[in-house]
Amino acid sequence: MKNLIFLIAILMCVGLQAQPERLKVDMISPPEKAGDNNQCFECHGKKVYEYVNASTGMTERKVMNPNFVFDQEVFYKGVHRHFSCTDCHSPDYETFPHQSELRFEPTYSCLDCHGGDETFAAYHFETIEEEFEKSVHASRHGEQFNCWMCHNPHSYTAMTRSDYKISEIVTSHNLVCANCHDNPVNFQRISDSTKKPLNEIHNFLPNYKLHFSSVRCIECHTSVQDTLWVSHQILEKDQAVKKCSECHSANTMLLSSLYKYQNREARKTGTLNSVFLNEAYVIGANRNIYLNIISIALFGMTLLGILIHIIFRIKK
Ligand code: HEC
Ligand code: HEC
Ligand code: HEC
Ligand code: HEC
Ligand code: HEC
Ligand code: HEC
Ligand code: HEC
Repeated sequence: MKNLIFLIAILMCVGLQAQPERLKVDMISPPEKAGDNNQCFECHGKKVYEYVNASTGMTERKVMNPNFVFDQEVFYKGVHRHFSCTDCHSPDYETFPHQSELRFEPTYSCLDCHGGDETFAAYHFETIEEEFEKSVHASRHGEQFNCWMCHNPHSYTAMTRSDYKISEIVTSHNLVCANCHDNPVNFQRISDSTKKPLNEIHNFLPNYKLHFSSVRCIECHTSVQDTLWVSHQILEKDQAVKKCSECHSANTMLLSSLYKYQNREARKTGTLNSVFLNEAYVIGANRNIYLNIISIALFGMTLLGILIHIIFRIKK
């Protein structure tokens, strides 16, 4: 009986440890510098912008380069929502036409601001950078490939630390990769190599669509690091997971990667089964509502048993 209590205590600790620290950024109050940003969104929030031509005095309308158009709503949902555009860009952008030298302004890297900052220790920025440096992207394309390639400066948010469902996390994380690997324009900004589309590369998987909406690219393409919520070391293709049993088994590796979040979700909704059924977890088991009920009932009965046992002990 003591062993059982001990086991439950351990399971609970494991469960609690798996809880990621949530976002510290205030995601509710209105963005602090929206007032300053309005002038930029006046042009960069629209497909067509207007300006007064200084030499003719006429108002002209022009089409904005679509890569330079950002959705305000999306910007203000990102982790840098309280920033003004000129916190990251030169204040010289306040004049238009922009000076042409500005195009060569150096951009900040994540580590310029986050490196060595205790406030963000939970993210392990330094470890992420080390992993990234070892990834195929950095080792093959050096400086050209930086953190911003995957972290859109105008929308990035840490989804795994907010209230997103696993399915939303999967879709959105995969889009980051697919947006380049399945988009020749973006891909060829970095490499001339021609790649097959992702569905052809991965035709060894039955039901490609279902797989790509249930697991993330990084599940198969990185080695999982315990301290990180999102591993960043993308490995060479010949080191990718191909064995079906890595996932389709009771001890699926997804427990230490993707399903970390599921445990969190389960705790939130009160269905503790994925934490307590960890060892017995099989893909899809969580969907079985009867199994859920039975496992919760069993767990409840066990607790009751312990309680009664303790009461009798004390009485004795
Ligand atoms: C110019 C400085 C700067 C740069 C560059 C920058 N950040 Fe930030 N970041 C901040 C500051 C300051 C905050 C806190 C904002 C607040 O509290 O409103 C923040 C917040 C965050 C948060 C939320 C932390 C939390 O727990 O709430 C994440 C995640 C984050 N940044 C990731 C990144 C990543 C990834 C990059 C690079 C792709 C990056 N940042 C680049 C300054 C920066
Ligand atoms: C009157 C319209 C207008 C306003 C206002 C405006 N921009 Fe621009 N911006 C443009 C256009 C057009 C381009 C693309 C052509 C160019 O570089 O001039 C551009 C380009 C840029 C670029 C990319 C430069 C490059 O080529 O890489 C940045 C960064 C930028 N703007 C930032 C800002 C910021 C920050 C603000 C607000 C302080 C701002 N802009 C306000 C019209 C505007
Ligand atoms: C957290 C820092 C940060 C903030 C805040 C920020 N930007 Fe940027 N922006 C960047 C970085 C970094 C790049 C270069 C991205 C890259 O290298 O791919 C960039 C690129 C751009 C570009 C050129 C896009 C391209 O595809 O080359 C424009 C235009 C721009 N920003 C406008 C804005 C405007 C307008 C705002 C405010 C609404 C803003 N930025 C806020 C960091 C920021
Ligand atoms: C190949 C794409 C890619 C590159 C390159 C990349 N990241 Fe990420 N990163 C991601 C994805 C996808 C996520 C998950 C988004 C989220 O937080 O939900 C992520 C998440 C993160 C997080 C949040 C992790 C957490 O614990 O919540 C941080 C911090 C981060 N990245 C920092 C960096 C830094 C610093 C670099 C550059 C040294 C970098 N990333 C380069 C794809 C990338
Ligand atoms: C901005 C574009 C871009 C993004 C975003 C991106 N990649 Fe890549 N990826 C590349 C390029 C370019 C290469 C190198 C191709 C070459 O030159 O051989 C590459 C290489 C790879 C390789 C190695 C293939 C091999 O030949 O061994 C894998 C695996 C990979 N990427 C997976 C991912 C994953 C997973 C993500 C998302 C977390 C991602 N990539 C995000 C552009 C990108
Ligand atoms: C179920 C595991 C799995 C998932 C999920 C997965 N991959 Fe792969 N991927 C592989 C394997 C295994 C290979 C090696 C295939 C081969 O060599 O025949 C591969 C190969 C690749 C290559 C190298 C292609 C080449 O031939 O140069 C790229 C790039 C790639 N994957 C990107 C991605 C991206 C992006 C995603 C997410 C949208 C993703 N993968 C999801 C297992 C996976
Ligand atoms: C990275 C983990 C992973 C790998 C590797 C993997 N799968 Fe899957 N597979 C999943 C997940 C997650 C689902 C979706 C399960 C669900 O939605 O219930 C799935 C679904 C399936 C389905 C569909 C089941 C159904 O309900 O229709 C089949 C069949 C399947 N996988 C076969 C394979 C085969 C064969 C391989 C090896 C070539 C493989 N899988 C490799 C994770 C994986």
